[in-house]
Formats: sequence, structure tokens, C-alpha cells
Amino acid sequence: FGVENCLIEVNPGKILIPPKFKELGERILGLEVRPDDVWLASYPRTGSTWAQEIVWCLTNNLDYEGAKLLSQMRAPLLELTALFGNDQREWKNMLTNSVDQVENMSSPRCIKTHLPWDLLPTQINTVKPKIIYVARNPKDCSVSYYHYCRLIHDFHGTFEDFCELFLEGKTPVGNMWEHVREFWKRRDESNILFLKYEDMKKNQFDSVKIISEFLGKDYSDEELRELVDHASFSKMRQNPAINLEPILNQMYNSEEQKPDVKFIRKGQVGDWRNYMSNELADKFDEQSRKRWSDVGLNFDN
Ligand code: A3P
Repeated sequence: FGVENCLIEVNPGKILIPPKFKELGERILGLEVRPDDVWLASYPRTGSTWAQEIVWCLTNNLDYEGAKLLSQMRAPLLELTALFGNDQREWKNMLTNSVDQVENMSSPRCIKTHLPWDLLPTQINTVKPKIIYVARNPKDCSVSYYHYCRLIHDFHGTFEDFCELFLEGKTPVGNMWEHVREFWKRRDESNILFLKYEDMKKNQFDSVKIISEFLGKDYSDEELRELVDHASFSKMRQNPAINLEPILNQMYNSEEQKPDVKFIRKGQVGDWRNYMSNELADKFDEQSRKRWSDVGLNFDN
């Protein structure tokens, strides 16, 4: 992991992403978008896997049996192959090229992406499929992304090192504030639903209902409550279709080699207080003011 070796710049000055993206980026821009697609977009570590599970179940008649399949096989991360393009480890063989996979899926497709707005397929602008965007307060997002990069991208620096990269927009898929801003600006378009992780945590049932209604579904409250339970933190943490354990077991030869962190990690709001000095927290708040105050976006935490 490191800006020098692993990341290239696309749209100069805008986004850093692993070099393998060169091969996939053009294909992604030209990808055919279907009107009945559901896109789940977010910056990494904002609760997107949680929302992905809810969205997949809602669009698949609450098929909990079918939900036992690895989530990447059901609602693939479009750019996965690019993000792990340099990783030669065995587990890659478990997954096919993610763009091929999306192209070959039958409709209606659930597609997940962490790409910023400008790198999405251009047809997104004309076909206007339903897009659900999940955002999270930057401080918790950075804590969560730090652990994720330790687990998945071999990051060995300190949390403070990571925050320096995060504040400069030098983490994979680039600057978080810009990423969120582009979707927030479009939040009133009828095909876009903008959600905050903190609201989902505060009221899980209402959030699932909002998503269900946005997708034009008509499930009963009882069915939605069952889905809230299926997608609860404790159940998702234990669910091998979601918690990446099958993949992590392939990535690491033994338990001792694995960093002491889980993909579905803590699931709390405000964990940044356990990690950040006041000075560091101020730097994050300053970024939020600088990049979001003109568009009226803020987070309570
Ligand atoms: P933490 O690292 O703070 O625990 P993403 O899926 O976008 O990578 O986001 C991951 C974050 O969402 C992690 O945050 C993870 O624990 C949290 N998360 C995953 N499933 C969740 C759930 N069902 N409820 C609450 N948080 C969840």
C-alpha cells in the first residue's frame, strides 16, 4: 500500500486508484446501463455492504435462501477487479472479472460501486437508473477505512499516517469529501436516494422502509422487520456470504497472519473518539466546513 506504488491518478488531481483501473476504466465508462438496474454507490466504509444486503433482498423477493450466495456474486462491486488487480493471491480465483460479471448479469441487476460520479458509466446520466448513495461522517469513515486497509491492502502505517493520506484524498478512490459532494448535489433527482449511515443506525426500520418505497416495493411491516433482523450487525458479522471470511481465509495462510480486525468490524457511530486527538478531529471538521458548507451538508457526529 502506498501512493507511490499502488495508485495512479485519473482525471488529473481528482482521484487515485490502483493501476489496473487503466484496463477497466474505459470499459466501465462505456458500460451499458439498464433502466431497471439498482446502483448502490458510496465511498468505502460507509455502511455500503449493509445497504447492499438490504437492497439485494428487497429486489429479490426477500429470498434469504438465495442470499446465502457470496454477496459479490449477487450484487457485485463493479470495480473490484481493478482494486485488487495487483494482488496475485489465491483468493482472486474465487471471483471472476467484475465488469464481465456485471455485463452478463440478468435483470434486474444490483450493482455496487465506490467509484466517484465522474468515473461511472456515462449512460447513468441518460438512462437514470435508481441510485442509492450511502454517506457517513468522515471521522468514523476514516477509522473504518484505516482498519479495512490494514486487513485488505497490507497497510502497515499508523492511524495518523492513514489520516494524513485520507485528508489529502490519497486513499483508494480518492477524496471522500468530493465523492460525497457530487452525489449530495444530485440528491433531489427522482432516481437518487441519499442516505446517511448515522440515520440508518438510529432508525433501522424506517431506513429499510424508505429504501423499500424508493424501490417501488410493497412489503408488509412484518416482512421489513424480518429484513432488519437479517441485516442486523450481529447477523451480518456472522454471515459468511457477507463477512468476507471465505476470502480472508484464502488471503491469509493462518489466523496469526490476519490483522486483528474483521471486515464487519464494530458498527458504531462515534468510534473516532477512541482514535483521534482533538487536533486531528479539528482537521477533519475543517475539511468538512471547507468542502461542504456551501452545499449545506453536515453530520452531527
Ligand atoms: P466499522 O468499521 O466502523 O465497524 P462498507 O460496507 O461500506 O465497507 O462499510 C463498512 C462499515 O459498515 C463498517 O464500519 C462495518 O462494521 C459497518 N457495518 C456493516 N454492516 C453493518 C450493519 N448491519 N449495521 C451497522 N454497521 C454495519
